[in-house]
Amino acid sequence: MTRFEWKPEYSVNDDKIDAQHQELIAIINGLAEQLRAPDASTDDARTVFDHLAAYVTAHFAYEEGRIAEAGYPAELIAAHQAEHNKILRQVQEFEQVFEGGDASVLEQLMPFLYGDWLIHHICGTDKDYVPYITGKR
Ligand SMILES: [Fe+2]
Repeated sequence: MTRFEWKPEYSVNDDKIDAQHQELIAIINGLAEQLRAPDASTDDARTVFDHLAAYVTAHFAYEEGRIAEAGYPAELIAAHQAEHNKILRQVQEFEQVFEGGDASVLEQLMPFLYGDWLIHHICGTDKDYVPYITGKR
């Protein structure tokens, strides 16, 4: 799996959210690297996994608050929140399976993180609220 790089075109015009997205990408790239390392230990993967789950929770909460403040319509916030909750549930499910002793689940985690989340959510869904952040709507 190739590394995912943040690009200026992914900017949502909020410095804090952009910084959080960059940090998330760094965490996910770090997790991918660890999984590839021949001497990767389960403990190392668990540390990154815990960091990811905690960071995602805090990031989603911040983003939801920020778009509400920007005047993003309530029904769109609800839909965005639903997508966040779905991602978080999936991350937690992966973590549970992993904690249950099945480290092979990490192989499915990466396509999910890179695809559904980074490409679909950060580069797609998150762009929908940008006009509200920039005050163009
Ligand atoms: Fe989002």
